[in-house]
Amino acid sequence: MKELNLSTSQVMKILLRALDHIDVRLVDHGHRVAYIVYKMMQADGSYSEKEMQEICIVAALHDIGAYKTEEIDQMVQFESVHVFDHSIYGYLFLKHMSPLRKWAEVILYHHFNYGMYWHPDRKHLKIADMIHLADRVDIMLQNGAENLSLEAISRKQNLRFSKTTMELFQKAGERYDLNGDIKNGSYLNELVELISTAEYNEETLLEYIKMIAYSIDFRSETTVSHVITTVSISRELGKLFGLNDHELKKIQLGAYLHDIGKIATPLAILEKPGGLTHEEMLVMREHIETTGEILRGRIHDEILKIAYRHHEKIDGSGYPNHLKADELKLSERIVAVADMMSALTGKRSYKESFPKETVIEIMEKQKETGKLCGRVIDSAIRHYDHIM
Ligand SMILES: [Fe+2]
Ligand SMILES: [Fe+2]
Ligand SMILES: [Fe+2]
Repeated sequence: MKELNLSTSQVMKILLRALDHIDVRLVDHGHRVAYIVYKMMQADGSYSEKEMQEICIVAALHDIGAYKTEEIDQMVQFESVHVFDHSIYGYLFLKHMSPLRKWAEVILYHHFNYGMYWHPDRKHLKIADMIHLADRVDIMLQNGAENLSLEAISRKQNLRFSKTTMELFQKAGERYDLNGDIKNGSYLNELVELISTAEYNEETLLEYIKMIAYSIDFRSETTVSHVITTVSISRELGKLFGLNDHELKKIQLGAYLHDIGKIATPLAILEKPGGLTHEEMLVMREHIETTGEILRGRIHDEILKIAYRHHEKIDGSGYPNHLKADELKLSERIVAVADMMSALTGKRSYKESFPKETVIEIMEKQKETGKLCGRVIDSAIRHYDHIM
């Protein structure tokens, strides 16, 4: 997506930045595991550049399911005792919510002892085994181990890796300074460099953006359904205003990402039944700043603005920058209206979904008081049934 300045590495940075807000340690662990797997693949020599890029992304996300199990505080627990929950969640996430579905099974098996399961595709087996080993190695390094004795961990934890995986790790260790590169941080640049050169078409990049929006699902399902509804209402409104494909794409991407900052909002506030107190409201509003922080410098400026400005009001009473009518573009106004419409028509923790009459009444009021764009509201009401 050249004209939208969207690249795989930027999209990955947005995703990892968003996940950082749930738990930095887990993101860093993912990076290190991806790096070790990368070096093993290089030592192997039979992987294409594209495979290495995809597998490294998968390896970086191998524990993504742990965000759901809320056992992050007990890394050792979910990585050794209860390994299945996060493996299954991660597998389902990759399979149904990402463009990496063809590698999903690698995540499913990343804690299995080699030889315990059968898979028709040997490559998946091999990669799952490499991730398994890299994962154990990283845990050891983080626990301060200087010498990596695979025999020792295998014996102690009753783990079994394939002979090939062990040899690859050995080879990678001889060729590269794994421990040193991880300690001095240079491994990260290498990883970023590898992923940056990946070229994906527009469709795939859009799938990555969706994957980012869906990653909030690990914390709040209602937020994700709200986001999806906001995207489709925005698109319909955009079409009604005759926007071209390029503009529609920007609207769509901005809408997908508009509430990504809620990944940092405490669940007690995000899912609170009933109204928020003043203090809680202030915390809720911080999601805008987090959205900005996650996206800034990593995405087309217009897309950033669409996401960052969805709580601005025509009369300047919105937030975060109290912008006024003449500063708000049509695309930004459209997503602001779609956001409200989606909230009114959807079921939230604090309310049931409103019937059409109530929604229209509230929207009319937004127009009369000069809060949301009158033209967009008129169009939304006129085509209500079609849009919904
Ligand atoms: Fe794991
Ligand atoms: Fe792990
Ligand atoms: Fe919002």
